[in-house]
Amino acid sequence: MIQASAPAKIILFGEHAVVYNQPAIAVPVSSLRATATVEFDTTNAGLHVHLLDINQTLPIDLASELVDDALAVTARMTLKHLACPPPSATITVTSQIPMASGLGSGAAVSTALARALSMAIGKPITLTDLNQIVYEIEKLYHGTPSGIDNSVIVYEEPVYFVRDQNIEHIAIGKPFRFLIADTGQAALTRLSVGDVRKLYDNDPAHIQTILDEIGSIVIQARAAIEKGDAESLGVLMGRNHVCLQQLTVSSPELDILVAAALTAGALGAKLSGGGRGGNMIALVSDENTDAVREALTQAGAVKVFETIIS
Ligand code: MEV
Repeated sequence: MIQASAPAKIILFGEHAVVYNQPAIAVPVSSLRATATVEFDTTNAGLHVHLLDINQTLPIDLASELVDDALAVTARMTLKHLACPPPSATITVTSQIPMASGLGSGAAVSTALARALSMAIGKPITLTDLNQIVYEIEKLYHGTPSGIDNSVIVYEEPVYFVRDQNIEHIAIGKPFRFLIADTGQAALTRLSVGDVRKLYDNDPAHIQTILDEIGSIVIQARAAIEKGDAESLGVLMGRNHVCLQQLTVSSPELDILVAAALTAGALGAKLSGGGRGGNMIALVSDENTDAVREALTQAGAVKVFETIIS
């Protein structure tokens, strides 16, 4: 069986400011994945992408210029890149990653599909080329992305990312455990990124001071991660969350979850991703994981995932 997959991601530090060339840090969440499975078809019916979770099947027509579906465009861009006609097959895509929640579900399904398609054709695709294809898809459907989501998902490694620069991989000094809590509110990153753009255009000098502060927090966070210094990392998460509140991308629900995590003993907590809903993250220790998880659920989280970065 030909099958390929790609992970979810969380942004640990620097979301939004990364769009304005500040650094950011993101890590893959390998336990939550999008998967694409190839079934060859002997009837020569061409290529179909079957979206299992919404039970929809898309025929892939290489000549089409329509951009109405991200996965159809992913399939066509991949085939064009590999210079191959569509194989006669159905590729079934399914995802465990909640959509519109800041966990990179769109980039993950595109990555899994492009990988499965290249395997079906028997032509490997390099990580650099795959990253470029998924970035093009992100640009079509998500406004003005920085490129961090596709990078962390395609490379599936912790990244220190600065727009238009080579990705730097981060050495993790000591494992860190995070809880990821979902507000259950879908939020489109494109909209929060657009709102920050309006704020910036109205008062560039003021917004730039917040973006610079985030950039400085990210640099300190990288040092704390490399040293394995959880206490400092927690404090920096709190400072980053305040900056995101100032950029108006938090929400009452996110703030309630952040406060609940801290009260229950988390070392730090912040929203993660585009904000306005979606997910927040809390840095926890072996001793307080259960208490923080319980507090997040009590405070309204619809799902709580755990991930360890090491
Ligand atoms: C979304 O995961 C991260 C943002 O910074 C947008 C981007 O970098 O493209 C909000």
